[in-house]
Formats: sequence, C-alpha cells, structure tokens
Amino acid sequence: MFDPEKFVREEVEKLRERLKGKAIIACSGGVDSSVAAVLAKKAIGKDLIAVFVDTGLLRKGEPERVKKSLEKLGLNLKFVDAKDEFLSALKGVTDPEEKRKVIGEKFIRIFERVAKQEGAKYLIQGTIAPDWIESGGGLRDRIKSHHNVGGLPEDFDLEIVEPLRDIYKDEVRKVAKLFGIEAEERQPFPGPGLAVRIIGEITKEKLDVVREANAIMEEEIEKACEKGMERPWQYFAVLLPVKTVGVHGDVRNYGYVIALRAVDSIDGMSASYSKIPHTVLDRISIRITNTLGEKVNRVVYDVTNKPPGTIEFE
Ligand code: XMP
Repeated sequence: MFDPEKFVREEVEKLRERLKGKAIIACSGGVDSSVAAVLAKKAIGKDLIAVFVDTGLLRKGEPERVKKSLEKLGLNLKFVDAKDEFLSALKGVTDPEEKRKVIGEKFIRIFERVAKQEGAKYLIQGTIAPDWIESGGGLRDRIKSHHNVGGLPEDFDLEIVEPLRDIYKDEVRKVAKLFGIEAEERQPFPGPGLAVRIIGEITKEKLDVVREANAIMEEEIEKACEKGMERPWQYFAVLLPVKTVGVHGDVRNYGYVIALRAVDSIDGMSASYSKIPHTVLDRISIRITNTLGEKVNRVVYDVTNKPPGTIEFE
C-alpha cells in the first residue's frame, strides 16, 4: 500500500543528499511537475528555481492561472516571457513534426539559459513511471513529453533528476493532496500548445484568433456540462488554413474557418467524436462569429472518429 507521507520523507531525504547546489524545474502547472517542485523545495528550499515559460502558445488566461497556482505553493518562481522568441523560431514553419522539434529545442535552450543565469546544475522533472515505461526507458533519451523534446542535445550538461519516476498517477495524486495541490482535472493539452491547432504557418494574429475561439468553446461546453451534458474527454478549436467568403454586416468578407473538435476517449489512443447537442454547437458558432466576425466567418464541427482521424489536426 502506497504511503504518501513515507514517500515524501524518503524522497526529500534522497534529494537532499543528491542535490549539491541549485536546481531548476520546468513547471507547467500540471500535477506532476507541481508535486516534483514541492518535493524539491522541501529538500533544498530557495535553491530550487521553478521556471514557467510563457510560449505564447497557451490558452487564454493560462499563464496567469499557472503563475498564481505556483506562487501559492510558495515556490521561488521565475517567469520567462518567451512569446516573441517562440514566434520568431516558428516563422515559416508549417510541418507539424518540425513545429514540435522547433518548440522542443527552444524549451531546452531556455532551460539551459536560465540554469546558467541562476548557476543551477540540475534539471528536475516530473516524469512518472508510465512516461518512461511507455517510451521504452532511457533517461537521457527523452525529456518529459509535455515539452516534446525528441532527445536532449549531446552538449546538454544539466543533471536530470526525476523524483517521481517510480510512482504512478494515482500515487502522485495522493502526494498532491498531502501538499494541498488542487489536482484540477484538466483536459489534456498538447505540449506544443496552440501551435498544432493552427494548421500551417503560425502568426500572432492566428494565435489570437484560435485562442479566443477556443476560450469561447471551453466556456460554452462548461455551461452545458453544468446543465447536465456529459463532458467530452477533450475539446478545442482549430484554425484552418483556408479562407472562405461570408457576410459581415452588409458586406461580403473573406475570413478564416474555425473547426471545432470534441472527442470521447479513455486514453487518447482511440476516440469517437462527441455527439454534442446542436443547441450547444449553435451557441459556440454564434459567439465565435460575433466576437471574431471580421476574421472568422465560418465554423465547422469535426465528425471524425480516431481512427481514421487523429484527435489533433496536426
Ligand atoms: P492524437 O492527435 O495523436 O492525440 O490523436 C492523442 C492525444 O495526445 C495529445 N497530443 C500531444 N500531447 N505533445 C503532447 O504532449 C504532442 O505533441 C501531442 N500531440 C498530440 C492530444 O492532445 C491527445 O490528447
């Protein structure tokens, strides 16, 4: 039987022995990295620097929300505004895997930079057992998937420390509870964020459009769930790389198409599209075109299962 208090006692002791100097941890606001951060903080106090990177690819209000929740944990937080850096690295990139690669590399370089500024020698990660078991093991071969790094560069010289690598999600949740971390049940959000929800090239304008459309969709689904609709496993908006003709006011205009995606699934491996009531889709569509009317004049709903479709469009 897993005993969270014993786990914390032992892990803090191990970390205290192992960490001889400053460490950084990349925090996403998710439960794994938050638990790993609190453990490390208990071991080395202010020598732990929690790094949150605002990539500009996050959902509406997310940077502020994450910042607040990390501060509440009393972490020594370093907030990195890397919005312009990510946008310029992604300029001209259209291939989905290339986007992931560029984003992964950018993350690594940012962590390295922060570590250097802070004089840190260690990178702590919230990797849990299924993360590395599923990926075939190999510590240095991978960095936790939410940062989507295919592999670490040869010259990466931070020592990686993974205090949660032997435990599972339900056990992490027990430790989270002990630490008072609200394990809010967030829907999965891909590491590359909105970058894979803009098909084709990413621009600031498209990011703002898809971010707003996504926020509207989330709000309307939330309202519908409060009234009894079953919550889809994952739901989001995607900006398609085509423009179509519409009317805005009395004038014809040429605008983007937003695709809505909502799926029911157990683990993301297979999925069926959610049979959301038309009344809910209607509200989402009207709000999106009212709010983004000059830029978006068409909203469509994806009725594809996985397989043959994937959940994300990229
Ligand atoms: P697909 O699109 O492959 O998605 O059917 C299955 C689940 O994985 C998420 N996903 C990702 N998560 N980095 C992530 O951390 C990624 O590059 C990535 N691509 C897809 C997707 O949101 C869904 O939950």
